Amino acid sequence: MSRDLVGKRAVLTGASGGIGRAVATALVKAGARVALASRNADKLNELASALRGTGGEVLAVPTDVTNPDDRQRLVETAVSAFGGLDLLVNNAGVGSWGHFADSTEAICRTVMEVNFFAPIELTRLALSHLTLGNQPAVVNVTSMCGRKGMPAWPEYSASKFALVGISEAWRAEFARFGVDTLTIVPGMTNSGFEKNWLRNDGKADLRFDKGMTPEYLAAKIIDAIQQNRTETVCGSEARRLLRFNRYFPRLTNWLLARKVKKLYSK
Ligand SMILES: NC(=O)c1ccc[n+]([C@@H]2O[C@H](COP(=O)([O-])OP(=O)(O)OC[C@H]3O[C@@H](n4cnc5c(N)ncnc54)[C@H](OP(=O)(O)O)[C@@H]3O)[C@@H](O)[C@H]2O)c1
Repeated sequence: MSRDLVGKRAVLTGASGGIGRAVATALVKAGARVALASRNADKLNELASALRGTGGEVLAVPTDVTNPDDRQRLVETAVSAFGGLDLLVNNAGVGSWGHFADSTEAICRTVMEVNFFAPIELTRLALSHLTLGNQPAVVNVTSMCGRKGMPAWPEYSASKFALVGISEAWRAEFARFGVDTLTIVPGMTNSGFEKNWLRNDGKADLRFDKGMTPEYLAAKIIDAIQQNRTETVCGSEARRLLRFNRYFPRLTNWLLARKVKKLYSK
């Protein structure tokens, strides 16, 4: 099946961020109508007017995805403005970089709220509308940490594994409603993600500046939606790491542990 995005009615969370902004732009370029959601109203309004300037049909709906009333309002606003819903792109997310031993319960709960409970509850609200939609799909932006738990990303890995897991379960469950579930598994992306982390005291030398551009990733996400790809791993280092881990899991774990011991030896 190939999906034509022209006229599709979409909700996109995390639209104010690096990846979300690029996905919003690419969705509009492909002809979709998009409700843009995230907390920062100024950034959303600025993006909405830029996209309207290109002829896009967009709504800015300031939303904290962890707030049930905000989620309800987001879905209702999009459905009433567009007359229905065809796509839900769960992209909003937050990271926390540092080891579990000196992390906190509050960090773990926030990461799980934003990255797991919020997208799944938004999906619960959207599902009855998607069921009536045109080639409907839920698109979950996860992470390579959702396929391989990484040191210094304990809560984040757990939240993304949870989202990957529920996506797999939904794939069969939602088939009875004709709703597809697509999982995006990105590697490092130069989006400004690190500016919003809850913690930033991991020790490895992370080079987000060497990651994919948000525009490159957005093009992969649009392609995955159009081609209805079940799971899309994006970025060469993510593909390499996940492939290596699949064939050599014990060696991968040994190498990761060796690196952690070296980083923390002093
Ligand atoms: N960058 C990477 O290397 C990378 C790699 C793999 C996966 N990802 C995933 O890609 C997605 C987008 O990340 P990004 O790199 O674009 O990071 P980002 O620039 O930090 O953007 C995160 C987005 O999520 C929104 N957000 C955060 N908390 C929210 C909340 N409670 N309610 C509503 N919106 C919220 C932020 O907007 P407001 O602050 O305005 O609310 C922002 O638009 C995330 O799910 C992330 O986990 C990123």
